[in-house]
Amino acid sequence: MAEWVKVANEEECQGAGCVHAVTANGLEVVLVRLDDGIYALEDRCSHQDFPLSEGGVEDGRLECVFHGARFDVRTGKAVQLPAIKSVRTFPVEVRDGEIFVDVG
Ligand code: FES
Repeated sequence: MAEWVKVANEEECQGAGCVHAVTANGLEVVLVRLDDGIYALEDRCSHQDFPLSEGGVEDGRLECVFHGARFDVRTGKAVQLPAIKSVRTFPVEVRDGEIFVDVG
């Protein structure tokens, strides 16, 4: 069931390449802005739980700075070792300048 939670104002994550950590109902989430919109992923690397929000984004991939794994921002899929498993992704909506994430 959908559970939309306001996590930030849009001005907190402006410009392609923005990586911004937020909390949604106690869940650590990282917002990433790409050219085509804002995406949300669980802020925890599937390799050893390091916060993905510490890393940067390049070519639509978010890098974990701990050991260099990369994840497709749009799908959460692990695209570079040492991570093998995907990270969870969440639907995002921007309403009147506020960013909402569906953590349901
Ligand atoms: S914890 Fe992210 S690559 Fe190891």
